[in-house]
Amino acid sequence: MKLIYLDHAATTPPLPEVRSAMDPFLGERFGNPSALYGKGREARAAIEESRGKVASLISALPGELFFTSGGSESDNFALWGTLIANSEKGNHIVTTAIEHHAVLETAEFLEKQGYDATVVGVDEHGMVDPGEVRKALRPDTVVVSVMHANNEMGTIQPIHEIASVCGESGVYLHTDAVQTVGNIPVNVEQLGIDLLSLSGHKLYGPKGVGAVFIRKGTNISSLAHGGAQERRMRAGTENVPGIVGLGVAAEYAGREMAEKNERISGLRDYLIDGVLCSVNNSALNGHRTQRLPNNASFTFAGVEGEAVCLHLDALGICASTGSACDTESLMPSHVLLAMGVDPRIAQSSVRFTLGRGTTRDDVNYVIEKLPPIIERLRSISQV
Ligand SMILES: Cc1ncc(COP(=O)(O)O)c(C=O)c1O
Repeated sequence: MKLIYLDHAATTPPLPEVRSAMDPFLGERFGNPSALYGKGREARAAIEESRGKVASLISALPGELFFTSGGSESDNFALWGTLIANSEKGNHIVTTAIEHHAVLETAEFLEKQGYDATVVGVDEHGMVDPGEVRKALRPDTVVVSVMHANNEMGTIQPIHEIASVCGESGVYLHTDAVQTVGNIPVNVEQLGIDLLSLSGHKLYGPKGVGAVFIRKGTNISSLAHGGAQERRMRAGTENVPGIVGLGVAAEYAGREMAEKNERISGLRDYLIDGVLCSVNNSALNGHRTQRLPNNASFTFAGVEGEAVCLHLDALGICASTGSACDTESLMPSHVLLAMGVDPRIAQSSVRFTLGRGTTRDDVNYVIEKLPPIIERLRSISQV
């Protein structure tokens, strides 16, 4: 059976070029980048080359990029690190109800440590209103964290406008750009942000590696102590193969983006129209146009999203109910609830996220197989 992988927001298959670039660093190029001899220096050079490639993808300076273990660590670092370093200014952060758990649970944890968090809501499309962010700011606000695009329903946020609001008040703006870096153009200068999180495995790179962009001059504390790596901002011997892989993935992402997005957004629209036309009582989640080029997320009233995904899996189609991190929880998505979706309808969400290997035939297969699955489940459903 052919496998149709439509869960690229959860993770992407590493490019063959990424794997072959990593390979020597899992073998003969095993040197510790902190070592002074040649083998160490070659590993150090590879890290710095990658830093340049990743920085270039987001129009940052190489010195503003710090490698981490991925998006979750970068989010923790950005929020907690700025709070620790700016305690004389205050102890308040602002975030939104639709953030990834890596931000929301960090905010909850920080509250338990005595910090204060305000969570701003969103409209029915999952869009954050910059005016609401402005209202939430206080004299003691240190940092605002608003994701660039949502991993579940794909809505792209007005980050530039939110950055203006934060800039006027002298508050740092962090954006979780895990779903956008490598997927759509991200330019830290144009966005006007101070901190940004990105993750290798969302852009056809390896898992367990990512980076945080920290604008030059940002007052932030390291969270990992005990070594001089990453200019004393993150102790620990670097994940050299992962960092090399991330660099190559970033290079390819930048090169392919425009062409890839034109093709994928066309297939996404074809999928959205095909599903909405062929399944009664279906709805698109998120904004119709301000959305990621590869995201098609739906609710199908009267069925459980998990059941739909299991039936699709039996036909070789990989889709998900939303966040990959929520697969063990049968709770409705916090994102859909924040958008005002009825909790029973929110249980019925199914997300398809397309990728560079997705074809029109794949999409046609989904459009053919999905409606009878929904029909069958509805006929036996107690929901
Ligand atoms: C928006 C967002 N932020 C953060 C993360 C976590 O990234 P990582 O898996 O690299 O820790 C994810 C992963 O799904 C994500 O989609």
